[in-house]
Amino acid sequence: MKDLDIQSTTEAVIAQMALTPDPRLREIMEAAVRHVHDFAREVKLTPDEWLKGIGFLTAVGQACTPYRQEFILLSDILGLSRLVNVMHDSDGREDAGTETSLLGPFFREKAPEIALGGSIVAQLKGREIVVFGQVTDTEGHGIAGAEIDVWQTDAEGQYDLQANDPTVMDLRGRMRCDAEGRFHFRTEKPLGYPIPMDGPVGSLVTLQSRHGFRPAHIHTLISAPGYRELVTALYFGDDEHVDSDTVFGVSESLVITEAMGLEGNPLPALPGVRYDFTLSRDADGASGRVGSDPSRLMPTG
Ligand code: BEZ
Ligand code: FE
Repeated sequence: MKDLDIQSTTEAVIAQMALTPDPRLREIMEAAVRHVHDFAREVKLTPDEWLKGIGFLTAVGQACTPYRQEFILLSDILGLSRLVNVMHDSDGREDAGTETSLLGPFFREKAPEIALGGSIVAQLKGREIVVFGQVTDTEGHGIAGAEIDVWQTDAEGQYDLQANDPTVMDLRGRMRCDAEGRFHFRTEKPLGYPIPMDGPVGSLVTLQSRHGFRPAHIHTLISAPGYRELVTALYFGDDEHVDSDTVFGVSESLVITEAMGLEGNPLPALPGVRYDFTLSRDADGASGRVGSDPSRLMPTG
């Protein structure tokens, strides 16, 4: 028997996992062990720091509920969600396809259905706008009946989920495009907001002197048979945090501005945002959701 030292401990762990029947699990766990051990060696992790880390991860788990996903939030502020998203994009998004963004922790399945032109806001608190455009394939052909899910904060920067009452569904909706793939809906201009700062992830962000804000945005999830699901978001260019998003979701091509007098605005009395979404063909059937309705990860009952 050989005593394990600073280097050989890593090899011993990898050797013990070598018979893992699932090859992908074996590959992921081997790499995870190598990187975690390298990390501990690089920073010369002390017992106190190790315990602090364990305490932090414990608190992250304890902050999770069916309506809050603190682990996804941790992945988001570390840029891991962005990275997985970009890799997923590079793997199957066609060049002309709309860029993706994070699903975020506030997506919920089964949002209320709205008719085209309907509003997703129960009670207007801010400036009403109309969002309109067309969903097409990469050759510019409209995709009839594409389904669009949208969700956002209100004009005070709050999602419905933050009211901690799961029966309330507001500022979110689902609609189907018309025969040419066109859509429009009314909403209010959202406000940028801090990520949830009252948990362990927020404490870490504070310790790092980061502002914790996301720029104002509208999330969209668009699907149609035969096309790759598109998870993205539109970011308002006049938000002061558009260049410093705490969760790294913004891409230049997703930045928008509302304006009066836009050609094709179906409700010209309102300021409009026009955005045309381009879906890539579905090559692999893989989900593009770097995120989840929190209740899926922690079912209610
Ligand atoms: C959001 O867009 O809703 C969001 C994304 C990541 C972390 C926090 C919020
Ligand atoms: Fe959001």
